[in-house]
Amino acid sequence: MDSFLIRGPCRLEGSVTISGAKNAMLPLMASSLLTGGRCSFGNVPDLRDTRTMMKLLGVLGVSSSLRDGHLEIDASTVTSFEAPYDLVRTMRASIYSLGPLLTRYGTARVSLPGGCAWGPRPVDLHIRGIIALGAKVRIDHGYIDATADRLHGAEMILSVPSVGATVNIMMAAVLADGITVIDNAAREPEIVELAGALKKAGAVISGEGTSKITIEGVTEIGEIMHDVIPDRIEAGTFAAAAVLTGGRIQIDNCRPDHLHAVLEKLRECGASIEVSGNCMIVTGPGTIRPTDVETGFYPAFPTDMQAQIMAVLSRAKGSSTIVEHVYPDRFTHVPELKRLGAKINLDGNVAVVNGVDSFEGAPVMATDIRASSALILAGLVAEGETKVLRVYHIDRGYEQLEEKLGALGADIKRIKE
Ligand code: UD1
Repeated sequence: MDSFLIRGPCRLEGSVTISGAKNAMLPLMASSLLTGGRCSFGNVPDLRDTRTMMKLLGVLGVSSSLRDGHLEIDASTVTSFEAPYDLVRTMRASIYSLGPLLTRYGTARVSLPGGCAWGPRPVDLHIRGIIALGAKVRIDHGYIDATADRLHGAEMILSVPSVGATVNIMMAAVLADGITVIDNAAREPEIVELAGALKKAGAVISGEGTSKITIEGVTEIGEIMHDVIPDRIEAGTFAAAAVLTGGRIQIDNCRPDHLHAVLEKLRECGASIEVSGNCMIVTGPGTIRPTDVETGFYPAFPTDMQAQIMAVLSRAKGSSTIVEHVYPDRFTHVPELKRLGAKINLDGNVAVVNGVDSFEGAPVMATDIRASSALILAGLVAEGETKVLRVYHIDRGYEQLEEKLGALGADIKRIKE
């Protein structure tokens, strides 16, 4: 697996353009299975996860091509209804094929994703949701085996506002008979995005972006054509990089309105942030101030920015607390940040971060996408050489990260292995 070699410290300055959102793109790609026809998407990031989803669609008999941010999908010939373990284990979002296959073709066999790098990630709410819609489900040799003649609408309350479960149930309900109400639904922008794209294609959905989504089933939907929103986590990562390096970055093609909680915390750290439409300019302070962060469901501070804000707070003047509420075990980056000199005490889902004045470069290894980006941020301000191993994870979720950081003045290069 490739690694990144970073020589620090550096101060980032310049402008960067944010790519399309991975977490919006993956449900949109899966939703093409609802159409039985052609779909086209713009502002599509060319990521490993995009390619994995294309591979999964290919296994199902669906052809797709991606060029210059434009993705064409032809879902007119679905020949298989099985998402195999090999693909699901490399990308959990493969489970998004469950709802669309089941509701359109009456059958779906999708591997259970299993755990992930930061602990258990259940899919019980996805399964309960489709059962409520009338599916017969059995777990068979590690696979979710679901069948239904035609799904019917139902009212349900999610015990947790899960993004994935909301996506899967919403897609299944689009072609179900009658009305579905999802209470305590996820409110993330990626949900609003999916609902908007489906509505343009003929789906009847209301309440997206609130905790109560209502879907009135239709018998078919047409071609889905949609441009993907900018990636709020990529934008947040560059904003964090500006603060950590005491730099100044103009972040173009972003949605600052999707980043309220993150920008608020970066301002508390001393950042100056000017927002103008789809652009923001983030200027880091001379000295980073400590602050306390609690992750939560949108619009709270995203768990996908927890590792990056920890890298920032590790260099603050004083002590900060980070509480992880969404994934209580999501701290694989802590021992690696400590290898660079960070002082972090972890007790359950609470990390106390005592800021230090300097980091020293060291080899570090990442185990998930956001942990990897936090280690890269830390490497930017470490003295000497930091080698970030297994950047395979970065390639899953950040488009051309080393090129973008290089253009801002970072000394970073990819070592092919
Ligand atoms: C999505 C994002 C991921 C992000 C996460 C939380 C994608 C492709 N991934 O993941 O980057 O970190 O949201 O914002 O969009 N839960 C259950 N049962 C379930 C499903 C979830 O208990 O059936 C719990 C999880 O353990 C977790 C919480 O719900 O505590 C949120 O998970 P969820 O929103 O489902 O995350 P994902 O959709 O997998």
